[in-house]
Amino acid sequence: MERRLRIDGHTLLAGVTGWPVAHSRSPLMHNFWLEQRGINGAYVPLPVVPGSFDVAVRGLQAAGFRGVNVTIPHKESAYRIVEEHGRLDRSAQRSGSVNTLVFAPDGQIEGYSTDGDGFVANVEAHGIPVKSGRALLLGAGGAARAIAASLLDRGVDVAVANRTRARADALAAQLSGIAVIDWAQAGDVLPSCQFLVNTTSIGMDGGADATFPLDLGRADAGLVVCDIVYVPRQTALLRQAASHGLRTVDGLGMLIHQAGLGFEKWFGAAPEIGPAVEALLDADL
Ligand code: ATR
Repeated sequence: MERRLRIDGHTLLAGVTGWPVAHSRSPLMHNFWLEQRGINGAYVPLPVVPGSFDVAVRGLQAAGFRGVNVTIPHKESAYRIVEEHGRLDRSAQRSGSVNTLVFAPDGQIEGYSTDGDGFVANVEAHGIPVKSGRALLLGAGGAARAIAASLLDRGVDVAVANRTRARADALAAQLSGIAVIDWAQAGDVLPSCQFLVNTTSIGMDGGADATFPLDLGRADAGLVVCDIVYVPRQTALLRQAASHGLRTVDGLGMLIHQAGLGFEKWFGAAPEIGPAVEALLDADL
């Protein structure tokens, strides 16, 4: 779709703050949706150097932006600003992170985390209900906490295994209801799980090429294997799962769904999450 650039006094503005931020695929998605929905808006990359996040956020708010996404290295600053001066949504409180800021009309800054709900929405978009059963999460970083919170909120039991056990224990201390499994023993709980979710960087292009302590041959036939890594889309874990006849959910859809939740808050319309935006991103991977 050809974008007709139309910037005027009514243009709604949003963007992504990060450092570096040039690699972000968010502008591609949001500007595509703006054009598709016929909304007079623009979404721009905002390179904000470390140490300047607070002043940048105040400036963007003062300049009339609707809000921004927040990526590395500013997520902690975003959480702190909203905790001290704004309104932390439940999603942000539960996940302990903020990836979406909304500059509300009353002058407040609202902070949300859309990762966990984006993950769940993506799985459900594959026709897989997320409302019961047990999930084994691999990893205990920020993404794991957001996903664990959303799964627990929907009534799914969560077990977490992490290479560094202390981080999994810390996660369990922050969110009640999580069972911690030793990394080397992760495979033991697999037969009783309906979801397996990789939130580690294993399988990522240019990342660690370590393997998981799991034998998917022991999984229940109904297991759904999810990876939040999306470069490459078909990770070794997903390929292995498919070879065992298991259903798989790749990470690209989560990226799209979590973005869609922010779009709706800033621009007041739900974006169309379908093959068109997926193809657009796929071509850019
Ligand atoms: P994010 O916020 O995206 O979740 P993170 O906080 O850096 O990222 O977490 C990365 C996760 O990948 C961690 O759980 C990390 O395990 P450790 O806590 O032991 O570091 C996991 N991870 C990264 N490389 C790994 C590897 N080679 N083997 C196992 N786990 C790995």
